[in-house]
Amino acid sequence: MPDPRRGTLLVMGAGGHGKVVAETAEAAGWSDVRFLDDRVPTGSRVAAWPVEGTFPTALQAAKGTSVVVAVGDNALRLDWIDRLARLGIDCPAIVSPHAIVSSRASIGEGTVVVAGAIVAIAARIGRACIVNTACSIDHDCEIGDGTHVSPGARLGGGVIVGARSWIGIGATVRNDLRIGTDAVIGAGSTVVRPVADGSTVIGVAAQPKRRDASESAHPPVG
Ligand SMILES: CC(C)(COP(=O)(O)OP(=O)(O)OC[C@H]1O[C@@H](n2cnc3c(N)ncnc32)[C@H](O)[C@@H]1OP(=O)(O)O)[C@@H](O)C(=O)NCCC(=O)NCCS
Repeated sequence: MPDPRRGTLLVMGAGGHGKVVAETAEAAGWSDVRFLDDRVPTGSRVAAWPVEGTFPTALQAAKGTSVVVAVGDNALRLDWIDRLARLGIDCPAIVSPHAIVSSRASIGEGTVVVAGAIVAIAARIGRACIVNTACSIDHDCEIGDGTHVSPGARLGGGVIVGARSWIGIGATVRNDLRIGTDAVIGAGSTVVRPVADGSTVIGVAAQPKRRDASESAHPPVG
């Protein structure tokens, strides 16, 4: 079901993902979509939408204005949603009318569900998640707050994913597995064993990847 038409929606982040979120929101019935971005000049436009201000502008959002956070960094996105929600600012879930979401699934505050995604019965998606293009999250999955399921990733039934994890593009996760918090599943990987908190796994079948000290667990998208 598309969101009912509402007032202004501020999209924090005018990068590639931000543009997807803005277009998704418009398709879902938001009539007045504007960006906030710290690096793009206020007063300019990105694609079809004006840049209204920088990120801190969101903290003063007027009554009737809603905010969605469209940054790829999972921890940062979740922090912002928490901060905004504590201030009583409306952070709705944005669900594409071109996604298929079971009426018996739940979608948390500030989560974005993009075109082509499928969320099956009894799946529970946390807050500030990205359910990206054409991914599928099957029955009874639990997706932790701030987690990103990338385009085309497929999660079998009953998969539990901890907070702030990143399931890479086109990855497959066997049913009933647990993926920890702050985990990364490499693009195209097939996960057939549980994944520990904070670990990165790659390949078919996925194995832990050695990490350099310089690596970030949450590279940006878009
Ligand atoms: C897993 C990942 C985070 C690792 O990134 P990284 O630390 O920069 O890794 P590198 O590119 O330096 O690669 C290191 C090694 O791992 C291998 N590798 C990296 N990602 C891999 C993957 N997904 N599957 C198999 N092997 C992979 C590389 O081939 C390389 O091997 P080598 O040392 O033998 O040459 C990244 O490759 C990835 O898959 N990101 C997901 C991207 C995505 O889903 N984007 C969606 C945006 S919406």
